[in-house]
Amino acid sequence: MRKALIAANWKMYKTAAQAKEYVKAFLPLVTGHDRDEIVLCPSDTSLYTVIPAVTGSNVAVGGQNMHFADEGAYTGETSPVMLKTIGVTHVIIGHSERRQYFNETDETVNKKLITALRHKLVPIVCIGEVLAEREAGQTNDVLRRQTTLAFAGIKPEEAQPIVIAYEPVWAIGTGKTATPEIAAEAHLTIRSEIARLLGREVADNMRILYGGSVKPDNATALLSQPEIDGALVGGASLDPQSFAKIVKY
Ligand code: PGA
Repeated sequence: MRKALIAANWKMYKTAAQAKEYVKAFLPLVTGHDRDEIVLCPSDTSLYTVIPAVTGSNVAVGGQNMHFADEGAYTGETSPVMLKTIGVTHVIIGHSERRQYFNETDETVNKKLITALRHKLVPIVCIGEVLAEREAGQTNDVLRRQTTLAFAGIKPEEAQPIVIAYEPVWAIGTGKTATPEIAAEAHLTIRSEIARLLGREVADNMRILYGGSVKPDNATALLSQPEIDGALVGGASLDPQSFAKIVKY
């Protein structure tokens, strides 16, 4: 049985004070909810506020990005050590906005994935096709390529903590959601690629989340697909009531 993981990706929204208010409103809405793993991913400036606010609860905290080096002259970057030592447990890697606007590549995703595993951060690795690739019938090739490159050099015995988020880029922030069938088909492609690379057992245990315009009113249809092991939620996670509804789909 794969325990579902529902993660909020706040992107570049919320000051530290707003983040604190959110947590205060959100925690009572999900008290005792242990069917799913719940993760909040605030911006780096709010981590230090959110972590103590959720300590002792059923909610964990993730970073939205990290550098692949432990430390160094990388102005503006955050290292895995910095995240880990303040109590961050998860980290999003290779989000499509990082790929699109900040030159993140399959190669940097792979480096970050290896580093996250070394620091025992749970990596949430994002992959997904853009609209032109889907329309050209290249979706499966793109998903297989991104998966293979992200996992380069990773051994089956190291892969257990890894979580994948399938996020079709055309569905992110657009209000267009992949149908449950489209998402499930993509998840099957990714899982069979993981099986080819790392073996059937690793593939069967790996959680594959869906992301892209998940809302309270489509969460049940998506998350009740056996292939979909949770969600990475952007826009609809910014409001505590709305995110709690998704968590409790
Ligand atoms: P969205 O974002 O829910 O606003 O589409 C999802 C994501 O980017 O992870």
